[in-house]
Amino acid sequence: MAIDTVFLDELRQRTSLTSLFGRRNKLVRSGRNWKACCPFHGEKTPSLYIYDDHYHCFGCGAHGDAISYVMQSEGSGFREAVERLASEAGMEVPADDPRQVEKARVRQTLYDVMDEVQAIYRRRLYQPEGRGGLDYLQKRGLTEETLERFGLGWSGDGRSLLKALEGKNITAETLVQVGLMRMDEAGRPRGELFFNRVTFPIRDRKGRIISFGGRVLGDGQPKYLNGPETDIFSKRRTLFNIDQARQAIHKGAKAVVVEGYMDVIALVQAGFGGAVAPLGTALGDEQLELLWRMTDTPIICFDGDGAGQRAALRSCEVALPLLKVGRNLRFCRLEGGDDPDSLIRREGMQGMEDRLSSARPMEEELFSLLTAQERDPTPERRAALRKKLYELSQMIPDRLLAGEYLSTLNGMFFARYRRPKTGRGGYGQGGAGMAAPVIPVSGKRTVAEGSGERLNILTAILLQYPEILPGIDRDYNALSLPEPLSSIRTAILSWADDCTEALTAESCQAWMEEHGLAGAVRQVCSSPMPRQIRIEEGEDRLQAAMKLWWHFYALENLRALQENVEEEIRRTVEILFRSSSESDEATKRSLLAAMQTRQNVLFALRRGESPELEEKGP
Ligand code: UTP
Ligand code: MN
Repeated sequence: MAIDTVFLDELRQRTSLTSLFGRRNKLVRSGRNWKACCPFHGEKTPSLYIYDDHYHCFGCGAHGDAISYVMQSEGSGFREAVERLASEAGMEVPADDPRQVEKARVRQTLYDVMDEVQAIYRRRLYQPEGRGGLDYLQKRGLTEETLERFGLGWSGDGRSLLKALEGKNITAETLVQVGLMRMDEAGRPRGELFFNRVTFPIRDRKGRIISFGGRVLGDGQPKYLNGPETDIFSKRRTLFNIDQARQAIHKGAKAVVVEGYMDVIALVQAGFGGAVAPLGTALGDEQLELLWRMTDTPIICFDGDGAGQRAALRSCEVALPLLKVGRNLRFCRLEGGDDPDSLIRREGMQGMEDRLSSARPMEEELFSLLTAQERDPTPERRAALRKKLYELSQMIPDRLLAGEYLSTLNGMFFARYRRPKTGRGGYGQGGAGMAAPVIPVSGKRTVAEGSGERLNILTAILLQYPEILPGIDRDYNALSLPEPLSSIRTAILSWADDCTEALTAESCQAWMEEHGLAGAVRQVCSSPMPRQIRIEEGEDRLQAAMKLWWHFYALENLRALQENVEEEIRRTVEILFRSSSESDEATKRSLLAAMQTRQNVLFALRRGESPELEEKGP
């Protein structure tokens, strides 16, 4: 007799998996979690990870919760394991409730009915009446093995199920109970659910058949018909193919959620055993929980049409309130009208593999879904979008994680919609003279190589001289930065976007402190090379800073600087010619200055010169 699930959940919650493991195994920290040498196979380096509610060994695939750990490590049965854990947790295993016992007995008879019906549907597929169905499935490329594996069948004419079940002691009322017969208004059985349909058994986690779906052969409506909610079938709580996918995922298959039954079947046939689908409804929270019990990062792969994109957005909204560290979603976008089934038929397994391995993290998908139609948003739209991004990130209960999401989404926002900064400095302020910038040096030293340090310098210069940001923001944005530089960049850009006054180092520093980045800023500015940057105070210091910035940028990416200079020359010439009368002299001069600064950097690099830094003092 099954033990009450509420009790079991409570027991799991009260049992610390970590301390249970810790009694017999040496635990080692691994980020927020622990790992240990797997007790189920001999190993010297730990590959068994212990999470809040489950463990997983990446060596041998052992996997389970506290109860299965006891079962596996002590060879005890389920009830025995539960009783042991319960006594340790000071809980009492509830006695079998007679009503529960009766309920379980009834449920069992319903599963048995399903098995009988399945046998009939299956048999019919290979009889003359099922000929059309079999042809249809074969034409869609399903192999005999696949038909067997998914138990596909033929419903028959919709009038003969009871007769076929003769001698099995199954009544029309029971068929109503499992959803395979309908009722009339008076509550009497009236006709079967399916007629002339290919049948798809729907199984629960344990592999028991709990309902059926049925597809018409041609273009009839509705295309798919699913069994109704019953005592054994809840659409929200299960996924098509969950039982087989679960095993495949434990063995390392990717968990992939698709829209349709036929997509699941095509994926599995192509070798992706971890495919599941919701049952004709949107993907819900309980289904996501089900997925996250099997893997940290399921991949959502919906159809490449408008409906598929709406469904993807909806899934994000359902997922956000459930997110925690160690739970994520990835999204795989199919093009045009493709679904996984049509893609696999056209491009085979490799085509699908390519799409799956380039699946994008949820934050990227979310951003792209939200901004697909926004090319050049007005200030009002910008504000609305940023508000939406804020609201979405606030749906995540973990505040730290919510903060990280917001900063990532904002970063994408600023990368995509940089606002042109006019009238606030423009390109390089007041750079009238073209004299070479002064970078004082005492004892010459050539800059060492090392991309990490260069990226530190680029960030440090900006933090000290944020005034130069408007001239370099596009290229700064395009750099691929590690943490914490990336977070600092996001903050600098959102500060500049927010700033209504002059961009000064003090105001930037204050923003960093407000946004919890003071420590990161200190760390970056005190790393060896940035500490050596020294630009003399004076008229040209911004230009010197700009020059220095471009030097290091070019060391990082010379080609990009070359392209930038070419584009800037074209742009500057165009502006100078076009607006000779209206534009003021200062703007022109600063445009020229900015362009020439970059050009000088480029020429210097071509001559093989490097920026020189002050030798560290004694
Ligand atoms: P699709 O129409 O995308 O399914 O519906 P599909 O698998 O690509 O169908 P084929 O390839 O034409 O056979 C996706 C899912 O939505 C549900 C079913 O669960 C289906 O698998 N659905 C669809 C229904 O419940 N009823 C319908 O009439 C249509
Ligand atoms: Mn399809």
